[in-house]
Amino acid sequence: MGEMAKPEGAAGPAPARPADGAAQAQMDEPQLRAALALLTQEVETLRLAGAERDTLAGLVNQLREANQNLLLDSVDARVLREDAGQIERRQSDFLATLAHELRNPLAPISLASSMLTKTPGTASQLLNLQTIIERQVKHLSRLLDELLDAARLSSGRIALTWLPLALGALLARAAEVVQGRVSERRQRLTLKIGTAPIVVDGDQARLVQAFANLLVNASKYTHDGGRIEIEARVLDGQAVVTVSDNGAGIAPDVMPHIFYLYTHGPSSLTRPESGLGVGLNVVRNIVEMHGGAVAAASGGQMSGSMFTVTLPLSRAGLPAEPPAAPGPAQPRRGRHILLVEDNVDASDTLSMLLRHEGHSVVTAYDGPTGLAMAYAHRFDVLICDIGLPGLDGYDLIRKLRGSAGAHIPFAIAVSGFSMAEGRPRAIAAGFGQYLVKPINVDALLTLIASDAVTQLVRKDG
Ligand SMILES: Nc1ncnc2c1ncn2[C@@H]1O[C@H](COP(=O)(O)OP(=O)(O)OP(=O)(O)O)[C@@H](O)[C@H]1O
Ligand SMILES: [Mg+2]
Repeated sequence: MGEMAKPEGAAGPAPARPADGAAQAQMDEPQLRAALALLTQEVETLRLAGAERDTLAGLVNQLREANQNLLLDSVDARVLREDAGQIERRQSDFLATLAHELRNPLAPISLASSMLTKTPGTASQLLNLQTIIERQVKHLSRLLDELLDAARLSSGRIALTWLPLALGALLARAAEVVQGRVSERRQRLTLKIGTAPIVVDGDQARLVQAFANLLVNASKYTHDGGRIEIEARVLDGQAVVTVSDNGAGIAPDVMPHIFYLYTHGPSSLTRPESGLGVGLNVVRNIVEMHGGAVAAASGGQMSGSMFTVTLPLSRAGLPAEPPAAPGPAQPRRGRHILLVEDNVDASDTLSMLLRHEGHSVVTAYDGPTGLAMAYAHRFDVLICDIGLPGLDGYDLIRKLRGSAGAHIPFAIAVSGFSMAEGRPRAIAAGFGQYLVKPINVDALLTLIASDAVTQLVRKDG
């Protein structure tokens, strides 16, 4: 059949296109069929490619849309997160201010009640009432501390002092904190710390606080005579502490919320003390600030609870000796004291107490008067509030220290700000010591009687 041989299938060579009508006329029917089949196949391939392109275009559109939605969602989430963060910060700030303000009236109440014990001939009935006032003031002041602390910890505004610490000693200290309450309820507290020292890096006071909070809960939510155990060990290169009890347990619906601020389980008879619902949030924040984690487990109601804290082991591995507790006050008589305090009740009660201890006290109720008095007389000790009308405590001490020739007494700042927040500022401004309101009277008397003041008086005298 000459050169126009019939092509074999679709893959065969394409039929030569007829050059002119004459040549076309020469194509026989089978050749035409083959050419047609090829054309049909080409059209079909193009159609399929077109359909695929449409599908692809559709998919691209869907992807683009999904991407846009994702973008919008993530922007929404970021805005919501920022809003929530702002609300939480504002709430924390409000609580911190509230706690700070509530400390002020507490100071004179506490001092007035201390005065009752120091006044000769106080009737025994009054002394009983004094004990109640003192106890309640301590309770209130502890609640305020917790509130302030929780607010600060949750917003990360807390500075840690890092040291290598022996975990066993930390747990023993935490156990001391709850010992009173545990014995009162005839519970058995077992401490298992092993013999090999486990060392972690961290802030001693904060870690003790975290473990004490877990132990307080274990005691609080366990019946009288119940069992509490705290154990430390090393597991997978980490320090692991478990606090377990055989008490009330935690219901599954409460479990997911227990580490959030201001949440607590249902009130019941196993909850003899009301709390703020901050203890576990404080635990979680402290542990996480130390690079660790805390988890809770319970078999459900009435089947006990177990809290597990993991902390990284110390790289330094050197246990620090816990600082020695301050020695008992050794009151020495007759310091000459300037007291600058704008709360008249607080000033009156504190000056009464100081005079009762044999000191002479001059009072000022505002900053400028306090500064003028400090210029005019040689005081051994200055006790100065921070928030003062006219001139605050920081400026008062700065001005006094900045004045050539002025006599500088041993300066103690007193304020409602927590130790962590208030102390660095007070020391930076020029105070020698810092006390948080309500003042621990014994700590103040110890300071006034301390060698630091004696040396200052000798040097000047
Ligand atoms: N060991 C435990 N056994 C049973 N329930 C517990 C235990 N520890 C915590 N819980 C539950 O978790 C809740 C939150 O505990 P958290 O310590 O935060 O607050 P709180 O104890 O109620 O108050 P606060 O600690 O502020 O005084 C508790 O109210 C309680 O329901
Ligand atoms: Mg608690």
